Amino acid sequence: MQTIIQKYLANINWSITPEQLYEPIGYTLESGGKRIRPQLVLMGCALFDSDFKKALDAAIAVEIFHNFTLLHDDVMDHAEMRRNRPTVHTKWDENTAILSGDAMLIKAYRFLEKIEPEKLLKVLPIFSEMALQVCEGQQYDMNFENSEEIGEDEYFKMIRLKTAVLLAASLQIGAIIGNASTEDAHWLYEFGIAIGIAFQLRDDYLDVYGDPKIFGKKIGGDILCKKKSFLLVNALKTAKLWQKAELKEIINSDALPDDEKIAKVTAIYNTMEIPQLCEKFINNYMDKALTYLDKVNARFPKQPLIDLAIQLSGRKE
Ligand code: IPE
Ligand code: IPE
Ligand code: MG
Ligand code: MG
Ligand code: MG
Repeated sequence: MQTIIQKYLANINWSITPEQLYEPIGYTLESGGKRIRPQLVLMGCALFDSDFKKALDAAIAVEIFHNFTLLHDDVMDHAEMRRNRPTVHTKWDENTAILSGDAMLIKAYRFLEKIEPEKLLKVLPIFSEMALQVCEGQQYDMNFENSEEIGEDEYFKMIRLKTAVLLAASLQIGAIIGNASTEDAHWLYEFGIAIGIAFQLRDDYLDVYGDPKIFGKKIGGDILCKKKSFLLVNALKTAKLWQKAELKEIINSDALPDDEKIAKVTAIYNTMEIPQLCEKFINNYMDKALTYLDKVNARFPKQPLIDLAIQLSGRKE
């Protein structure tokens, strides 16, 4: 599936004018990434139809949409590196990231147009609702940077919106194209939400504990942006009063050099055993995911999907 996705993506010609608009799109789409979401579209379809290539246009639409969100997300998060390369707004400028991102969103819809009309009628509202929810999640993520403390419920609502709905809708769209029943597509969506939440928990973990060469992003970015990541939310929740004051002082400090700030916050996470807590939550969401997948009446084996989910939950990149 990865080879098919890769080939299709590589065949899209972005060497068109104005190059200031299209070159950053080509740069982004050729820079790799795990291509998980298009794979989920194809796998969702493959559970019900052996000819999963039917879902290829939808898969590409989803991947272009995902990459669009990254261009804008990196502006919002002041992120300089992604996939071991400078981000678009770093290599070019913010206006470029905004406009090339906009063009990618529209391009995603142009790929959806290729879906057969009867299926498109079902896929389109799912896709658009998902896209709106991602914006809602991103807005909560921004709002929370300025909040002193965030409840765990609010955190999970935010990551469900900004990350999980895209993985879930990818599976659901694939299933619909494969002619799955509404009920099966629904349970597959719920499975996608649970693995999506585990995926973002792992992302929050890797933002502090990842190997930058493998992760491809700068370590500690979430700490510097005061992101209410799983780690910070839970550290603030369980800290003793004095520890909480110290943590807030470090996070909000303008005087501390970045490296020192990251090291100090990481040390607090470590003593509080926050990374272990994060692992526990990832495992819980993975268990939950599998109970949803059990409810899906698939025509073809579910094992490849289970294997992918397990691989993602323990990812290092
Ligand atoms: C990054 O997604 C954005 C998140 C939701 C954490 P990925 O980790 O799937 O990014 P790529 O596409 O593989 O680079
Ligand atoms: C990803 O959240 C959510 C979206 C891109 C919509 P992050 O901001 O944590 O993703 P990374 O870490 O930059 O990839
Ligand atoms: Mg980001
Ligand atoms: Mg972000
Ligand atoms: Mg992140």
